[in-house]
Amino acid sequence: MLASIKTNSLTNEGQKLGMMYFRVAIILFGAQLLMGLIAAIQFLVPGFLFEIFDFSVARMVHINALVVWMLYAMIGSVYMMITDETGVETVGIKLGKLGFWVLTAAVTVVVLVYIFVQVGAGTEASIWLIHEGREYIEAPRWADIGIVVVVLIFYWNVFASYMAGKQTGIMTVMVANLMALAGLYLAGMFFTDNISMDQFWWWWVIHLWVEATWEVFVGTLAAYALIRLIGAKREIVEMWLWIEVLMLFGSGVLGMGHHYFWIGTPEYWWEIGALFSALEPVPLIAMFVHVLYDWGKEQGMAHGRGEEGNVVTNGPAMAWIVTNAFGNFLGAGVWGFFHTLPQVNIYTHGTQFTAAHGHLAFFGAYATILIGMMYYGVQKAHGVERMAMNFKSKMGIFLITFGVLGMTVALTIAGYEQVLVERAELGGTWNAFFIAQELPWYIQAQLWRTIMGVVTLVGFIYLVWDLLTIGKESQKEEV
Ligand code: HEM
Ligand code: HEM
Ligand SMILES: [Fe+2]
Repeated sequence: MLASIKTNSLTNEGQKLGMMYFRVAIILFGAQLLMGLIAAIQFLVPGFLFEIFDFSVARMVHINALVVWMLYAMIGSVYMMITDETGVETVGIKLGKLGFWVLTAAVTVVVLVYIFVQVGAGTEASIWLIHEGREYIEAPRWADIGIVVVVLIFYWNVFASYMAGKQTGIMTVMVANLMALAGLYLAGMFFTDNISMDQFWWWWVIHLWVEATWEVFVGTLAAYALIRLIGAKREIVEMWLWIEVLMLFGSGVLGMGHHYFWIGTPEYWWEIGALFSALEPVPLIAMFVHVLYDWGKEQGMAHGRGEEGNVVTNGPAMAWIVTNAFGNFLGAGVWGFFHTLPQVNIYTHGTQFTAAHGHLAFFGAYATILIGMMYYGVQKAHGVERMAMNFKSKMGIFLITFGVLGMTVALTIAGYEQVLVERAELGGTWNAFFIAQELPWYIQAQLWRTIMGVVTLVGFIYLVWDLLTIGKESQKEEV
């Protein structure tokens, strides 16, 4: 009986490549968490690993690993859906596989260089060989060029398959959006001596990624996943998708003004940034309604058919996607809105408040749905009809979500203390910066953040364990 269990039921080559991307993504996610913990301990014990593994390096690897694992998981998710959506095999898949190995080799070399060359002068050569010193996208220039080549191959895979097959609304948005997403990366690749200009262009990547193109990307993923996981109606999800695209580009693009308040750009950005970034939560509410509405509607239809209502074919994936709807709204919408007006931002800018928002937004809007897609990949790879939540899936989602929420609350308290003491009371001087960080509220908040970080890590261990085993276990149940 057991011999009949298929170990790999992926129906097409694109999905096999997608799973390869997912595997690297989850390893980098683990590395991200370990680096975050080292940096968190260094807030409490400043001498921890001093001159062996400095805070600057731990922090850099933490946030670069974050961006890179998410890009891996995003590329993986696209390969998972190409054939399902277009009805044809991914065009140029051999080249795509080569691209995967080139990218993975480059990422490995870049990380090793970060770790082994920790200090030194910043020169033209170090920009090319070591790192560019641009937060989140530090990759040295040689790797930048490699990334561009690999992304072009990936884009060719998507675009050529799209042209060769069916052109669904989901794929049309995907193809257009990926072009914008990839093109924006170029804005972070040249260097200017003027720090204001440098920051100006750097935000084109950072803000226009996470608040415009990445948000549209998760919109397409959610649309695809809802069709696959609960059998949502294509017309409905695609209608939502177009509304979201319209609104996201409406508010997200000029919303960039909220990063132009204090970097030496003209003052008209205060008004533009205030108005458009304040509108940014609106599309996030639409995305929230989109997921919950479709889910509720499918449940209702099932009740109407006299069924139990459990039409979810992949419990863990669906749970993560619903968490995405809440997380995106809370982390990006609510925590973003808190500090987006210049009148508020003048006090909160660059405090732990920013870090609170950064954690909940990246987690809520992106980590969640990408983990959901990994579960979807596991289901496909094992060819099972239904995959239900088990103890490990529940522990994974609960501990990770609880941990990140806990970190966010702790950092919000630390930020609040900085706003009151460092900014409002002591006038935001260099000295005030240090005084505020030595008071008990701040130190206790950092301690809680570290504890909640450990909770997150334990949840991550459950998650990996579950991803490695749930496919086989579901197969056994089906047999
Ligand atoms: C998923 C979407 C989002 C992600 C992943 C995200 C992430 C981040 C991160 C990581 C930073 C810190 C950047 C740095 O290192 O300086 C940041 C800053 C900021 N975000 Fe977001 N964000 C998102 C959406 C939003 C939205 C919708 C708003 C407004 C409604 C917003 C408002 C802000 C503001 C005002 C800052 C500047 C904070 C400061 O002055 O220090 N964000 N965001
Ligand atoms: C084990 C859990 C984690 C710990 C202990 C941790 C710790 C840290 C620390 C210490 C920093 C540097 C903050 C600073 O410079 O003031 C940081 C930055 C950051 N982390 Fe984490 N982190 C964890 C998990 C995560 C997760 C799950 C995400 C997102 C999915 C994330 C996203 C970020 C971002 C975006 C920043 C930059 C924030 C900013 O510049 O405002 N981290 N983290
Ligand atoms: Fe932004």
